[in-house]
Amino acid sequence: MSSKNKFYVVTPIYYANADPHIGSTYTTLAADVLARFHRMVGDKTFFLTGTDEHGAKIAEYAKRAGKSPQEFTDELVAKFELVWDNLAITNDGFIRTTDKRHIKASQKALQHLYDKGFIYKGEYKGLYCVGCEQYKTEKDLVDGKCPDHGTEPEEMKEDCYMFKLSAFQDELLKKIEGDEFKIRPKTRKNEVLSFYKNNGLADIACSRKNIKWGIELPWDREHTAYVWMEAFLNYLTGIGWTGDPKKVPEMWPADVQLMAKDILRVHASIWPAMLLALEIPLPKKYFVHGYFLVDGQKMSKSIGNVIARSITLADKMRLAGLSIPVCVERPDTEEKLKKWGGRILNKDINKNWKDYKNHMKNIEIDKALEVVMNEQKYLDGYITEHQPWVMIKEGNKDTGIIMYNILERLRHVALMLFPFMPEVSEKIITRLGLDFHEEISKNLEDNIKFGLLKSDTKAQPGDSLFPRLDTI
Ligand code: MSP
Repeated sequence: MSSKNKFYVVTPIYYANADPHIGSTYTTLAADVLARFHRMVGDKTFFLTGTDEHGAKIAEYAKRAGKSPQEFTDELVAKFELVWDNLAITNDGFIRTTDKRHIKASQKALQHLYDKGFIYKGEYKGLYCVGCEQYKTEKDLVDGKCPDHGTEPEEMKEDCYMFKLSAFQDELLKKIEGDEFKIRPKTRKNEVLSFYKNNGLADIACSRKNIKWGIELPWDREHTAYVWMEAFLNYLTGIGWTGDPKKVPEMWPADVQLMAKDILRVHASIWPAMLLALEIPLPKKYFVHGYFLVDGQKMSKSIGNVIARSITLADKMRLAGLSIPVCVERPDTEEKLKKWGGRILNKDINKNWKDYKNHMKNIEIDKALEVVMNEQKYLDGYITEHQPWVMIKEGNKDTGIIMYNILERLRHVALMLFPFMPEVSEKIITRLGLDFHEEISKNLEDNIKFGLLKSDTKAQPGDSLFPRLDTI
């Protein structure tokens, strides 16, 4: 992997209508793992997340709480930021759709779409689910209700501006089919394709007259922008875009946009259509994951079935230590290396790194983690087999070599673990007598050669790295 790649990863911006929960944490953690990995391999990385703060839903929640929408979202945003801090999330940017810069840039972009004729005056008549902030058709409903929110959508009829979504049907279908705009996993891509083929893209209402809590359309201030239209723009405004289609930030396009399946359809239609209309490149890839379920239903702030415990649990999942206070030996000459021969434990390490990196590049986070777990199991087996604690008592002269193998292999495990459990990784590396920050910022390709741990390494003792959950 070249060290000159860029990597721009985004999460959806979360509705600031209630406290964050495990569901919202899920996507953010996945993005964090990817961002940490890409920084580790030397890519120029930017990780953006943020909050979606306008629209009917937020206004309603604020009203119920007896607060102004701004006051209400300010409080919730602080909570989101705190949770990301507690989970050591390394986002490089945090975008709020109430940021003045976002509002100004969105207005400029919408004006541009209007001037180019992609937005026109019309009337919308149909169904609307406030929970989803989405227009619905009868086909989308189960027993007349939104399947995600269990509520009946509202009948809506109002003057509005329409966005010419239908104009982009063919071009988008082609780009999705041909993987120029990748949707993964493939099952999700196929779902989108069958939606395009069976339903097709119809023009959508892109303004609301009776929703005051939103971004005013610059050419007609009686209307506010449909919340999704401006929310999508966060992916650009969050990296400094000012709304000029000719001046797109260098981190764009997004290399990966993460999301759950609930918002795939809008992301696979409205957002890329807006970009085509603005003549801005499409994101390279969407990666769509499943839901955290509670009793078979999506855990959701709007449904109200959330479990917030993740946060305290995560706080507790801090790492502890490993206790091997012994000097190790390392073959410092080619000659010695040959003599050690098969006793050097570099079996499969290169292949494992290759698999690990490929999985991470393909966003197969679970598979990458499996490689790390297998590494650990292998090492565990090696320790059990050799019983260095017995060897040392018996004065076995190979103890140093065995310990070197264990600790050097552990160094590799710690590096692989870094994107997932940065604190465990830090503890292992520090206990191996190395400077964590120095190690993590080294060129990964150089640092994953077998045999770099110095022979005078003294491992530091410490508490257990993975204390039992019921004892913390
Ligand atoms: N505000 C919109 C997104 C606008 S992006 C331009 C929105 N917000 S949300 O708060 O409802 O967050 C939706 C996203 O949060 C999901 O797509 C997913 O990434 C994450 N999740 C929320 N609940 C989740 C689960 N129960 N399980 C897994 N992911 C979940 O939609």
